[in-house]
Parts: sequence; C-alpha cells; structure tokens
Amino acid sequence: MTEENSPVIAIDGPSGSGKGTICSIIAQHLGWHLLDSGALYRLVALAAQRHSILLDNEEALVALAAHLDVEFHADTSDDGLVIVLEGEVVTDAIRSEECSQMASRVAVIPSVREALLGRQQAFLQAPGLVADGRDMGSVVFPRATLKIFLTASQKIRAERRYKQLIKKGISVNFAAILDDISQRDDRDTQRNVSPLHAADDAIIVDTSEMSIDDVVEKVMALYRSK
Ligand code: DC
Repeated sequence: MTEENSPVIAIDGPSGSGKGTICSIIAQHLGWHLLDSGALYRLVALAAQRHSILLDNEEALVALAAHLDVEFHADTSDDGLVIVLEGEVVTDAIRSEECSQMASRVAVIPSVREALLGRQQAFLQAPGLVADGRDMGSVVFPRATLKIFLTASQKIRAERRYKQLIKKGISVNFAAILDDISQRDDRDTQRNVSPLHAADDAIIVDTSEMSIDDVVEKVMALYRSK
C-alpha cells in the first residue's frame, strides 16, 4: 500500500475531550503512526518564547514553523511520545498552561497553519496514521478513512484536566481551569481559519459519560465497520 493510500483515523475535538489518550492507545493497538498536531502549535509557541519572538510577529513565526527543528520519538516506557526541540526534551514543557495559552494564539494565524500543513501530512506513512487535532478531518486529511469528533461537556473536561494536574503534583484552582478551557474553546471555535468544528462526514462521540476503554472500543468498532 502506498503512503498516500494508507488509512487515516482522524480524531478532532476540543481540549480535554480525551483525544490525546485515545489516539495514542489506538495508534499503539493498530501499530500505526501517531500525529499529535497540537504539539506542533505548542512547539512553535515554545520556540517563539525561547527565541524572544513576539506572538504578533507573523513573519518570524511562519519562518519558525517552516523550519522547526523537532523530533518525535516513541516512548517505550509510556504510551506517548518524547518530543525534542532544538536538541532539548520538551515533552513536559509544551504542556504548561502558559504554553497552552500561547499555542492557541499561534494557532489562529492562517500563515502559521499553512506552514505546518505539509509537515502534518508527511506523518501519513504505511501502515496507517492516527491523527489528533482540531482540523484533521476537515483540512489536513479530508480523505481520512474514519473521522471522529470527540467531545465532552466543559465541566467534565475541566475536571479531567484538574485531576491530571493534581496527579502531577501541580497545585491548581478548578475555577481557573474551567475558565481557561472556556477561553480556549472560544478562540479555537471562533477563529477565521480552520475553526474547530466537526467535518460534515465526522461521527460525533460524546465522551462525558464514557470510560477511556469505552471510547477506544467504540472508535475501533467504527473503524472495523468501514
Ligand atoms: O490539542 P492541544 O491542546 O495540544 O492544542 C494546542 C493548541 O493548538 C490549541 O489551542 C488548539 C490548537 N490546535 C489547532 O488549532 N489545530 C490543531 N490541529 C491542533 C491544535
């Protein structure tokens, strides 16, 4: 099977819908590649901060996005990926709240999105790709084999994020997390280019009342039925 013909499972949805966890389990299960497209926006934001590039300097951000020196390595001790930016491991650094806010500002810039398009599409290699993002089914892989739009209520997503941070020993305030999720949702859904919305042919899965295993099983069943 050629690379362009390899299957893609595109999983889009808002922050905290469980996409990251679900995508990494499914990719491992199928032995496929994994694209964490949000990490690319986070990496541009972090690189900008490290090079003292302001988030309104579009030209410099586009140049950064086009030449981002990044490597993704499978992490054998975990389900996820080790992310290396300019020779330094930044797997945790890109997950900070500050980086999340900066990434959502970087992601509204059309030319930055354009600069990251080819890099995202290059992740499609045999035997297949699980792509995690906001516009995987609508823009990056419009011909994906299966398009899923994962969602959950804002309150449930904030609770998940809160528990994750507490588990990591980070002290957080629930109201601030809820507020942050709501602000990011607004920015992600209201931007002019590639706003967060389900592709017409995406299947919407509300994970509010589902366990991780339930969601994985549901997506696998939908893929098998294709
Ligand atoms: O999924 P995430 O939280 O790591 O994404 C970080 C930011 O990037 C978030 O504000 C949404 C944005 N994003 C995007 O606009 N398009 C994507 N395909 C993935 C993420």
